[in-house]
Amino acid sequence: MTTSHRWQFDAYNKPVDALAWRPQELTEPGPGQVLLKILAVGMNRSEFNYVQGNYAPARAFPSGIGQEAVGEILAIGPAGPHGPQPYGKTPLTVGSRVALLPGRVDMCDMGTYRDIGLFDQAALAPVPESYTDAEAAGLWMGVLTMAGALELAGITPTTAKGKTVLITAASSSMGVIALKLAKTWGATTIASTRSASKAAQLATLSDHAIVASDSASLITEIASVTDKKGFDVALDPVGQAFYPGLIESAAVGANIISYEMITGREPVLPIALMMMKDLTFRGYTIFRPYRVPGLLTQIIDWGMAYADQITPIVAATHALSNAPEVLDELGRCEHLGKLVLVP
Ligand SMILES: NC(=O)c1ccc[n+]([C@@H]2O[C@H](COP(=O)([O-])OP(=O)(O)OC[C@H]3O[C@@H](n4cnc5c(N)ncnc54)[C@H](OP(=O)(O)O)[C@@H]3O)[C@@H](O)[C@H]2O)c1
Repeated sequence: MTTSHRWQFDAYNKPVDALAWRPQELTEPGPGQVLLKILAVGMNRSEFNYVQGNYAPARAFPSGIGQEAVGEILAIGPAGPHGPQPYGKTPLTVGSRVALLPGRVDMCDMGTYRDIGLFDQAALAPVPESYTDAEAAGLWMGVLTMAGALELAGITPTTAKGKTVLITAASSSMGVIALKLAKTWGATTIASTRSASKAAQLATLSDHAIVASDSASLITEIASVTDKKGFDVALDPVGQAFYPGLIESAAVGANIISYEMITGREPVLPIALMMMKDLTFRGYTIFRPYRVPGLLTQIIDWGMAYADQITPIVAATHALSNAPEVLDELGRCEHLGKLVLVP
């Protein structure tokens, strides 16, 4: 048995009022499991929403929290139903550094906001050697979400050249990875943010960084930076508040990928304009790569092949013991890139 500690909550509330640090006895890893010492935890907006009941409902209470992390393998269980390690090129060894894949971590029973955990070998992903622990902890949610959304929109390393890709809420940890991927693959990139100070930082990552707090400013600024041609692809988590501007600013035949609806759960779309412009509007979640045969492996291969060009920006590293306060900080949206917790 190993004694571990993890953050849990018993009812929906603000993170600072909800989370409690509690002990948990862990067994030796069973078939298909590893025991992992957490080195760094990548924080996601969905976790801020989850604690408050604004994400997928908790399966049970108390619930753990956290979907991605990097850790050191302490012990390896016998091969399980998925084999020793589906996505790494090298066999698992005690002492090696691995990442946990969002979508394969059971947030309720285990979660990554903890010091030591038992995880499925099927949840492990490789870590670029040159990365710090904090960078590695912030890689895979971004790559699974953004490389997958780009692929869905027809943007890949071989097709990106000549395309203009708009990333809204570009200062988010997702947005930063999307900008870096699209630019590395050869696309022209446009980044939107509501903040003038973040726009200045984003200008170092994008061909065009624009300040857009509403639909009207989006239309004006995209027209200006694209010479009225519009964008070919947009990846958007903002939703309703931006939809009129996005659809007005899209080039004929453009693809708009929606991966969240920050500004409203029941959006209204100007379908007539979409018809006239031959637009495609699609939803995306990180669960698509788990459904489409070969896509997860492809995305992980991209993440590793372009690791040096897409290194996550670590906005700040905080102590795991301050997780409730740092989740509150994440909710204020003042950061650019990834907030990371370290034990
Ligand atoms: N579909 C999926 O599978 C999936 C996977 C991962 C993440 N997501 C979603 O992707 C988004 C980014 O996640 P993250 O963890 O990277 O978040 P994050 O780092 O906390 O960034 C969130 C960003 O959203 C922007 N924002 C917040 N409220 C806004 C509003 N009212 N209008 C316009 N922009 C607003 C802010 O950008 P500015 O302050 O710069 O304007 C902020 O930086 C989240 O909504 C998350 O739920 C979806």
